[in-house]
Amino acid sequence: MSLYSEKVMDHFRNPRNVGVIENPDGVGEVGNMKCGDIMKIYLKIEDGIIADVKFETFGCGSAIASSSMATELIKGKPLSEALTLTNKAVAEALDGLPAYKMHCSVLAEEAIRAAIKDYYDKNGIAYDSKDFPEHGHEEEA
Ligand code: FES
Repeated sequence: MSLYSEKVMDHFRNPRNVGVIENPDGVGEVGNMKCGDIMKIYLKIEDGIIADVKFETFGCGSAIASSSMATELIKGKPLSEALTLTNKAVAEALDGLPAYKMHCSVLAEEAIRAAIKDYYDKNGIAYDSKDFPEHGHEEEA
């Protein structure tokens, strides 16, 4: 029995959108205190659309696969839609993650949210603070 789905393994072995965007419009960096993994998301935004997104993840395979899938899911989408991306949707798109690895997908959701908030803050764009809870949301695992 394999612990990880084919999709998780594919996105871990061949991660999409790895790297850095020079002069990004928004950057979000989050970490998990327990495992020490860190995820950084860079956004290029044009007319409210995510024109480009890249990530750097110092973390486990599930965190890398989650970053890769999450960036694929938000690329080309409006910011409003990217903000609705949940860690569960990322995990589902990967055909599931083991329960104790769900927190890896939480990092992806939080990093995207932090990058969008950074963009709003830098550009003086008003936003609903409910979209950006102070402490992120509870871990799933
Ligand atoms: Fe912490 Fe995967 S073990 S992000």
